[in-house]
Amino acid sequence: MAFTLADRSQSIVRSPTVHADTLSSRRGFVPSSSVRRLSRALRPLLMRAFLVVLTVVAIAAPRMAAQKVELSIDASKPGAKIDRNLFGQFAEHLGHGIYDGIWVGSDSTIPNTRGIRNDVVAALKAIHVPNVRWPGGCFADGYHWRDGIGPQRVVRLNPDWGGVIEPNAFGTHEFMDFIDQIGSEAYVSVNVGSGTVHEASDWLEYMTAAQATTLEKERAANGHPAPYKVALLGLGNESWDCGGNMTPEYYLDRMKRFSHFVRNYNPAQMEKDQMLKIAVGPGGGEQRWTDWTETVMKAYQQHTWSWDINGLSMHSYTVVKWPPAFKSVGFGEDEYAQILKTTLEMDDLIKKHSAIMEKYDPQKKVALVVDEWGGWYAPLPGSNPGFLVQQNSLRDAILAALNINIFARHADRVRGANIAQMINVLQAMILTDHEKMVLTPTYYVYKMYVPFQDSTFVPVSFDAGSYKHNDFTLPRIDAMAAKGKDGKLWVEITNVDPQHAAEVELNVTGINAKSASGETLTAPKVDSVNTFEAPNNVVPNTISARAQGSKLILQLEPKSVTVISVEQ
Ligand code: AHR
Repeated sequence: MAFTLADRSQSIVRSPTVHADTLSSRRGFVPSSSVRRLSRALRPLLMRAFLVVLTVVAIAAPRMAAQKVELSIDASKPGAKIDRNLFGQFAEHLGHGIYDGIWVGSDSTIPNTRGIRNDVVAALKAIHVPNVRWPGGCFADGYHWRDGIGPQRVVRLNPDWGGVIEPNAFGTHEFMDFIDQIGSEAYVSVNVGSGTVHEASDWLEYMTAAQATTLEKERAANGHPAPYKVALLGLGNESWDCGGNMTPEYYLDRMKRFSHFVRNYNPAQMEKDQMLKIAVGPGGGEQRWTDWTETVMKAYQQHTWSWDINGLSMHSYTVVKWPPAFKSVGFGEDEYAQILKTTLEMDDLIKKHSAIMEKYDPQKKVALVVDEWGGWYAPLPGSNPGFLVQQNSLRDAILAALNINIFARHADRVRGANIAQMINVLQAMILTDHEKMVLTPTYYVYKMYVPFQDSTFVPVSFDAGSYKHNDFTLPRIDAMAAKGKDGKLWVEITNVDPQHAAEVELNVTGINAKSASGETLTAPKVDSVNTFEAPNNVVPNTISARAQGSKLILQLEPKSVTVISVEQ
């Protein structure tokens, strides 16, 4: 189905809230002096009427008492490192994830640096993106890197995602430039499905060789004499499905060859900063997936010098059922509760696959890397279904916080995660439409969590209580704490309950906690979203705790995500 940018701008949901002053100035409306006099005279009357209405509403509204929660944090018992790579992003050649989202070309009127949008770069820099997984996803197993280098790009179709033209204007050099501009690292997925070991091995030599090989010279001639750093290497993507529909045994045979021959030659990555190789892992919890993990991990236990892996990928989206039918905006508490209940299944999934990994790798050398996760909803009406366009609401912010906390609690094994996807696709950080850009509620969660990157987990104990809605019961409160690289104690608390505020009593041992302050993210409705016209519907506000003896007391809004640092 053909899909133009104009169609797409219609498809982005816009807030019906347009301020009166904006409307009048847009229409060139200037009130006459008699109208102004009349409005001055009416003002006190109107104000009185407004106060009466407010009082009536306040009396009539049911008083939802704040639920008390005690949180005990023992800062003297540090746990695992919360790897910054848990905050990784994913950018696939899919819909407007790359084209329009990142790449506009250097001729564009949209401010850019060598074709890469300046507004997007500035926004991403602020969330300290540790790595970006590219070029897919399913796209990666049909990608041929030579199509995207040099002055003459090969124009192809993108059969996985809408069958649209893939101009290959954004290739290796553009990706590496983008990574550099946002201060991140490359997680490159090589084509195991339709490519060859030779092709992938050449790509790595092209990117990383420092000596004067033919490929190194070609890279230099294309504008980059210095070798690129490839921090992470994906050995295929979903090879059990869009990546070639392989059995675990067949994948294993193939993967070993890629692991051996696809080498990184960057001298800076020889001793330290070695490239981490991530094998394809499970996509769910059923036997098909546990068999997959068993097969790869059992082989790993017996691996020889000639092949190795450092991570096993896992993909798990919050969908409820396929095809994704839940709305990304315009939903109520039912869908809120059901989606959040479903997203908590991530914990069991990690436990299940970690247990298998533990059998074959008790030293935890192989990380579990959840390199595709997030809420996957029905495409926005009017959008190309192959472009996976959805809005991003307060519910998604809460979903993100719950998942990040799950990853952090398993930080000894889960050392990487990539939310899907960074811009304009699925649970995005950023939405763009031509020159417009808006930051989503999920973006703000990532910003609030920056202090947790490379922090050290600290245990928190609390009675979460429960939030019940119709058939769904889930923990009312979630919390996570860590000692940041800055030496401070950082605490995250999510109040899942959309009806009740929470009064949190923080008891911190191991440090002398004097005060705490930070940011909290909430909004009027569970499906509140930011739009191009109203970008500040869901943005963080400051929050602070009051000291009460040796405790700190914090008032949390219903349906909120809060991150505070504790001062000693
Ligand atoms: O993120 C969208 C798609 O979901 C990816 O291309 C694929 O790996 C997964 O099935």
